[in-house]
Amino acid sequence: MAPQYRERTFIAVKPDGVHRHIIGDIIKRFEQKGFKLVAMKFTQADDALLQKHYSALSKKPFFPDLIKYMSSGPVCAMVWEGLNVVKTGRTMLGATNPMDSAPGTIRGDFCVQVGRNICHGSDSVESANTEVALWFKPAELVNWDPVAKPWVY
Ligand code: PPS
Repeated sequence: MAPQYRERTFIAVKPDGVHRHIIGDIIKRFEQKGFKLVAMKFTQADDALLQKHYSALSKKPFFPDLIKYMSSGPVCAMVWEGLNVVKTGRTMLGATNPMDSAPGTIRGDFCVQVGRNICHGSDSVESANTEVALWFKPAELVNWDPVAKPWVY
């Protein structure tokens, strides 16, 4: 498989998305788009993990609330693979603030407030690589060959 088809992103359904039963809708959109699931974990993230994940935001006034929100219940952490999956994944999520998210995007369709925006997606290939390594062990990333692949690429 050519390297450009092997780009990976970290996607997490946040506690509000889990409680509102939106995990399936989010997975469905990534599957239907043609991306490949390579890892998935339903987990309760602890503060230490979340503080590392959001370390770049530690000086933001909303940081404590963000950590409290993200540790308030389980998250569904995933790794998706495919051509331009980082940028396309962010487009599929919609703008960070649901007030600005277009209808048809995940946030545009399912939420209304930035502090409850149901899904995280890596914002660059570099962040994606860091986040995947933070949330998953190498052995948890599954290499497999979807039968539909020749119809996507
Ligand atoms: S910033 O301020 O530009 O760095 O923030 P941004 O890149 O837009 O968002 C980074 C993550 O912070 C979350 N966020 C917030 N959480 C709670 N309250 C407020 N006000 C808030 N503003 C931003 C935002 O959802 C991003 O988290 P992820 O997990 O990437 O969605």
